[in-house]
Formats: sequence, structure tokens, C-alpha cells
Amino acid sequence: MKGNIITGLDIGTSSIKALVVQRTKKDWEVLSFAEIPSFGLRKGAVINAEEVSKNVQMIISGIEKDCGRKINSVFVNVGGSRLYVMPSDGIISVSRADQRISKEDVDRVLQATRAINMPRNDEILDVVPKEFIIDDQRGIKQPVDLTGIRLEAKVLLLCVFSPDFLKLTQSVLNSKIQIDDIVPSPLAAANSVLTPQQKELGVVLIDIGASATSMAVFEEGDLIHLAVIPIGSGNITNDIAIGLKTDVAMAESIKKQHGTCIMVSREKVKKEHGVKKIEIFEKSSSLSFTKKNIVDIIEPRVSEILDLVQKELKKINKQEQLPGGIVLTGGGAKLPKIRELAKQTLKLSCEIGTPKGIVGIEDDPSLATVAGLVLGGLEDIDGSDKEGILGLLGNLLKKIRKMLKALLP
Ligand SMILES: Nc1ncnc2c1ncn2[C@@H]1O[C@H](COP(=O)(O)OP(=O)(O)OP(=O)(O)O)[C@@H](O)[C@H]1O
Ligand SMILES: [Mg+2]
Repeated sequence: MKGNIITGLDIGTSSIKALVVQRTKKDWEVLSFAEIPSFGLRKGAVINAEEVSKNVQMIISGIEKDCGRKINSVFVNVGGSRLYVMPSDGIISVSRADQRISKEDVDRVLQATRAINMPRNDEILDVVPKEFIIDDQRGIKQPVDLTGIRLEAKVLLLCVFSPDFLKLTQSVLNSKIQIDDIVPSPLAAANSVLTPQQKELGVVLIDIGASATSMAVFEEGDLIHLAVIPIGSGNITNDIAIGLKTDVAMAESIKKQHGTCIMVSREKVKKEHGVKKIEIFEKSSSLSFTKKNIVDIIEPRVSEILDLVQKELKKINKQEQLPGGIVLTGGGAKLPKIRELAKQTLKLSCEIGTPKGIVGIEDDPSLATVAGLVLGGLEDIDGSDKEGILGLLGNLLKKIRKMLKALLP
């Protein structure tokens, strides 16, 4: 981050997106945006760092030319199905004789929550405090300067499979680009689309990418759950390719042009009087199908994704219990009628989440992650509003930066 410009880099399975913003006298404006096809990832995680690195170089040199500025560093996302949270707690004795809790006590108790048996190759990316307990007094968010003998912390540990994390960092650093920070994908997306009110009430963000669906649940302003389901909108494309016996490129185009999750009633009526065929001419042959054929392929796959989301919500006893509802992001959220199907399946209100706060990219849910990376970066620079919408992410970024420094040579 140099010369008041910030770059967000969303390395996704189907595409890499880069967004550069610049500080004007009193605002931030988009300097450049680019999206190119992505290779070398599986289920949201980098599997071929060299290939990803080539694409990172390509997109960065493209936006450099476009905006006439040198990009030295980026805020980048970490995704993949091996990103997860684990509850933990820690307990310490307050160190000062006057029993006043210091910042050091809080650091110590948070450190104590890390002493947990982890799967061998997993790393703790960050510790997200849920509540502090001072001598059995529960529900404390800010313990510093309160008094007590015993300080307990209940937290969520944000964990990742270390090779995924290292391959991601390699793929960026090998492109001669520095990393400002690394942010878990669903938290970046949440950062650009959720309002403080939704986070306070209780809300689930569901980002349907090409290969994975990531979700983050917030309540009382805090992250309470995060999970990644290894099924995404690319699976719908594959189902169409199999169901209509066509290639993946054609299936992708059919999904985007004719895809929908629910038959609307007018179509149901038509069905009774004979179903209208959609005909597509491919090279030497033609492909013919009905809207119902498409719904019969798409609906079960989207329902499967939503059922898995419901399973995650059940784990934390939040099924049908989030007044802030569902916010859908990612390219998969552009599928017609997905909002209605999500509302019906999860029995919660639902909206499509489009990025707020950056003029020019407000209506595309697939840009939520890249916009959230930039917004997190702005917060990092401005250092204000720590308790607001960006507060959680701002703190998280700093901690992840520390971990990154420890990992790199
Ligand atoms: N109009 C549309 N209708 C239906 N699906 C769409 C539409 N536009 C994009 N998609 C789908 O969205 C997916 C890409 O979304 P996105 O850019 O969020 O994924 P990604 O970030 O590259 O992947 P991931 O997050 O899984 O690593 C693709 O599967 C694409 O087919
Ligand atoms: Mg994505």
C-alpha cells in the first residue's frame, strides 16, 4: 500500500479479480478493476502456486497499465474447504495486585486459548474473542480496566490447513508483490455487504463461488461461526453438462442464459398445456431442452448446498433463528430465483448482497470479496471505527499479518 492506493486481490477458483482504489481529497475512488480466468486452484485453495503466480502477475501488470500506477502490495483472500473455526477457551489469574485487568492479561488469556490439540498440519490463523468471564460474571466484551481475580476467555479459533496458506502466500510473493494482509474469504465478503444492524441482529453470509460455498454467521456484532462447503456453482455447470450431454462451456452458457432454481407459476401453467422447448445450435448439432429440464437439474444441487448450510446452522443452534436473515454473495448468487429458494429452504429472509461503499461496483455480488478486501485495507489505513462494521476485520488483519511475518523467511 503506497501513495494512498489500495489493491484488493480475490484469488478465486474460476477467476482472479483485482480492484485498485485511490484516496482523493475526502473520498476513495476506483482507479482500476480487472477480472481474468483463474487456474491452479481446487475448491478455493491454491494447488499450483506457479500457475497462480503467473495469473497474479498478468492481472497486476494489466491494472498497472490501466491506471498508470505501480502496484507494490495487495490485500488478498484465503479460501478453501479447509478453512474452519473451532471453539476454545482459556483461563488465567489477573496479574496486578489491585486486580485491575490490563491489556497484557487479555493478551495472555487469548494466548491461553491457543493451547489446544490441533490436527497436525493445521494452523491457527487468528483468535476471535466471543466473551470474557471475570470471576463468573459472563458476557463481558471489553475486560480491560475492570477488576477481578480470574479472567476467562471464550473464543473461536480461525484455522486453516497450513500448506493451503503457504501456497497462497508463495503464489503472491513469487509475483514480486508484497502482501498487506490475508483475509478469510467469507469475512472479506461480509465486510462489504453486511450492515452493523444485520450483524447485531444475527445474520448468515453465504458466498456461492465456483467451487465452494463459504459462510460466516454473525450475532451481536461478532463472528459466531464460519464454514466452507466444498460445493459451488461450478457443480451446477457440471450437472448441466451431464444432464444435457453437452460440454462444460456450453453448460456454463446455458446456466447463465436459461438457469433458474424454481419454476414460476406461469411456467407451471404452460407445462400443463405443453412445455416450450429451448433450442440451441451447437457447431454441427443442436441441443433442445425445456425450462423444466433445467430446473430439475439445478434445483437439487442448490438445495443440497442450502441443506449443508442448514446443517452448519444447526451445529450452532441458529437454524431459523437469525432475524438479520441470509445475505447471498458470489457469482452463484446471480442465479435467478436463488433468493426465493434460500428463503424457502432455510426459512429466513434473504437478500442478494452487493458491495456497499465503493462507487462503481455496487451491483455485482461476485465482487463482494474483492470489495471487502479493499474496505478492510481502508480501515487498516484510517485506523478509525474499530468497533464498527470494519472493527472485527481490522483487528483480524493485524493478527494475521503477525502470523504471516512469523511464517515467512
Ligand atoms: N449470471 C449468472 N448466473 C448463474 N451463475 C453465474 C452467473 N454469473 C456467474 N455465475 C457463476 O458464478 C461462479 C463464479 O463465481 P465467483 O466469481 O464468486 O467464484 P470464484 O470466486 O472464482 O470461486 P471460489 O470462491 O469458489 O474460489 C461460476 O460458477 C459462474 O458460473
Ligand atoms: Mg470466491
